[in-house]
Parts: sequence; C-alpha cells; structure tokens
Amino acid sequence: MRTLFVRKLLDWAPGTRQHLVSKKSFLGFNGPLHLSARHVWNDALRTEAILQDHFYDSTAEKYALQPVEALSLQQMLEFGRAALLDDSKILSSARHVQKELPKRLARRLMDLQFLPHIVVTNPHIRRVYNAYHHAFDTLRQMPEVQTREDNRQLTSVLQRLVDEHAPMLDALAAGFKECKLKPVVGPKLQLDAFLDGMLRSRISRRIMAEQHICLASSRPGFIGIICAEMSLPDAVRFAAQRTKQICTETFGAAPDVVISCSSSKVVKMPYIPTHLDYMLFELFKNSMRAVVNTCGSRSLPAIHVAICPAPNSVTLRISDQGGGIPEDSLDQVFQYGYTTVDDGNLSAQTQDGEMWAQMAERAALPGGPWRMGGLGFGLPLSRLYARYFGGDLRLVSMPGYGVDTYLSIQYLEGRWEESRVEPHTDAVSQSGSAVALP
Ligand SMILES: Nc1ncnc2c1ncn2[C@@H]1O[C@H](COP(=O)(O)OP(=O)(O)OP(=O)(O)O)[C@@H](O)[C@H]1O
Ligand SMILES: [Mg+2]
Repeated sequence: MRTLFVRKLLDWAPGTRQHLVSKKSFLGFNGPLHLSARHVWNDALRTEAILQDHFYDSTAEKYALQPVEALSLQQMLEFGRAALLDDSKILSSARHVQKELPKRLARRLMDLQFLPHIVVTNPHIRRVYNAYHHAFDTLRQMPEVQTREDNRQLTSVLQRLVDEHAPMLDALAAGFKECKLKPVVGPKLQLDAFLDGMLRSRISRRIMAEQHICLASSRPGFIGIICAEMSLPDAVRFAAQRTKQICTETFGAAPDVVISCSSSKVVKMPYIPTHLDYMLFELFKNSMRAVVNTCGSRSLPAIHVAICPAPNSVTLRISDQGGGIPEDSLDQVFQYGYTTVDDGNLSAQTQDGEMWAQMAERAALPGGPWRMGGLGFGLPLSRLYARYFGGDLRLVSMPGYGVDTYLSIQYLEGRWEESRVEPHTDAVSQSGSAVALP
C-alpha cells in the first residue's frame, strides 16, 4: 500500500528521484552537526541547530534500520510503579527512552526525505525536518544515563524538545496546506497516509518523553501521565467550559453544553487526560462553530453530551444542532487540511509564503475566527488519538439539522500495546537501504 503511495508520488513528481540521489547538494547541506552533550543546553547553539538545514545524513539511516520496541502500557506502568518505590528504577526508564526515541525520529526523517520536491522544499516542512534532525542528533549524542544527575540532564533536554516541537504540528499543517494550494501539483498530492504516520509517531514519542519526565514528580492518582481514575464527566465539563470561553471570545456567544450519563455511578477510567482533552476540545470547537454559524443571532440550541459506559469502553455522543454536514462532503471531513472555514482570500497569497504568518497573527487576536477552526486537522488528528489506544471516532450527519459525533475510548489496560509500531519507510523495509528506490 505504502509502496504504491511512494510510487504515486514519484510518478507525478519527476524531479523526486533525482533529488533523492543527489541529496548532499540539496537544500544547502551543511554537514552533520556535532553537538556535545554538554552543549545542548546552550540556547544559541540550539537555535542555530534548529535553523540549519540537515537534509541528508546516513547516520539517520542506520538508526532507522534498527528494530524498534513496541510501546506497551504494561511497561509504562511497571517503570512508573517501580519508580515510586525505588527512584533508581528511573534510570532504566531513562536508558530505554534514550535508546528508543532516536530510532523513531530516524524513521520519520526517512519518511520526510521521501516527500516530493515541492513538499520538502516548503519552508515550514524544512523547519519540521530540521527540528526532527536536531532532536535526533541531540538525543543520540548524549552519553548513556548512569547517574541521577545524567537523568536530570536528559529530563531537561526531553522537556525542551517537547516544548520546541509543540509548534511543529502547526508547521506541518501550514506547509502541507501551502503545497495543497499550488494550482498544478496541489490537487494531486496525497499525503494523508504520510501525515497519519508522522502524527502517530508524534503521539508515541510524546507519550514516551512525557511519561519519563513525569516519573520524576509523583502526583496522587497518576502513574506518570496516566490517570488511574479519570472522571469522564469532569473531563467533559472542563473541555466544554474552555471551548465555550474561546467561542464566546471569538463569536460573541456560545451554546450551552448539557451532560448526561447512562449510569448512576460516576464514570471513571484509566486514561491519559491530555489526550481526551485534546479530542473533546476539537469536537466541541466544531460543534459550537457549527451552531453559532447556523443559528446566528437566534437563541443557540444546547449541545448534548451522553456518556455511555460499557464493560471495556466508554462512548461519548456529542449531539449538536449546527445544520449538519452535506452528504457529499462527509467523506472529506477526515482528510487532513479539509476545512469549510473561510480563509478570507488568504489562499491567494500563498505564493509569497505569507499566508500562515498572517493566519498566526489573526489567530492571536482575541476575536480571530481561526481559534475555532481553519487548519482542517481537528477531526483526522482526534481520530488518530482515539484509534491509537483502540478507540474510534465516527460522525453521523443529519443534513439540515446537526451532527452526532461518537467518540469511543477503551479502558487503558495492562495488555495494551502499540499496534503499528513506528513503521519503516517503504524503501527501508523492502530493500534494507533507504536510497534504493523502486
Ligand atoms: N459538528 C459539525 N457540524 C458541521 N460541520 C462539521 C462538524 N464537525 C466538523 N465539521 C466539518 O468538518 C470540517 C473539518 O473539521 P476539522 O475539525 O478537521 O477542521 P476545522 O474545524 O475546519 O479546522 P481545525 O483543524 O482548526 O479544527 C469542518 O471545517 C466542518 O466543515
Ligand atoms: Mg475543527
């Protein structure tokens, strides 16, 4: 499937093969960065590293070829529980993270190298590539953690990398969107599978890094980032409140959210609260925007959330009366970049690459409509989050009336293990060498 995908890209982007062969001269290659572990905390060096172009480096290939260990909940809980009793166990977790992250980053670097010329030369995508390369180089060059002091240094590097990579999602979306808007190649670009791979990997790397960072400070009821008894009604209430506030700031009004539960007991489950919050926030933004746009100044019908627990999972149904999604658009809403938010003619300005700078400026304004949507990443990424842990996200649209969104989440149990473990790029998996193209 992915071979076909790569072939498809190569077919319509004839420059791509050539550019993969002559990678060293591509993008002004500056040679590999040699940061010593001691230097990684130097701000100036770090910034310089992120800005530098690192297009091709055979070290990444070597790491990409190494086997990757599946992330498993049992292992995360074991490390976490052991660390509560004996903090020297944190060192084992540190070494594990230190070994696994560079391999995962290397595989995604390979993926980025396989992109068509038009995508890889986009300034936003280059920024993502350079940030990945910087993270890869930084982590692989750190000495193996032996002491608590080493671990403190690793933890602070991980925290910085997590922070520095936070804007990379927007950069990826921005670059992707700019490429899609190119009149000739844009409509032929099929990058959904690539983005799924990149973002799934991002979820798993962040889990690994954040889980390790959190082991250093124990929070009651938590093992690392996993909350042992997360209250579903509280999580829904919190996300609804936050979205309502942003919706009111953006549009001047927001619908109420009414929560009901099919069980008389408070529904609690083990889960990662930040993941659920991300999904709920995206779904509430969509529903609230639809309701406000449909009803205008009329009184806004409330959004109803039903929490329905089952033995192994919980389904949340979010029902809005925002007019629904037309039937012919329903299969597009899970495509990355699909949005009905009017970009106010900004698309026409993509030629000079200014669009996203302007969007970011607009988004920062308290009343800017971009805070409620416009990237076209909310639904596909929420579904990826839900599926990562065995759940799902489905929409049932009633055109002319509203949408029912079904978010099912599985109880996180010890037996959970990553189902698609950081796949290789096609070229790596099939030939053992990332440069031998079909
Ligand atoms: N509840 C809903 N009612 C009506 N349309 C919806 C609803 N949910 C999603 N949509 C449609 O699906 C599109 C894609 O949603 P998605 O959340 O992926 O992107 P977005 O909201 O446009 O931007 P962002 O990524 O910033 O959230 C929306 O632009 C909208 O047209
Ligand atoms: Mg959205």
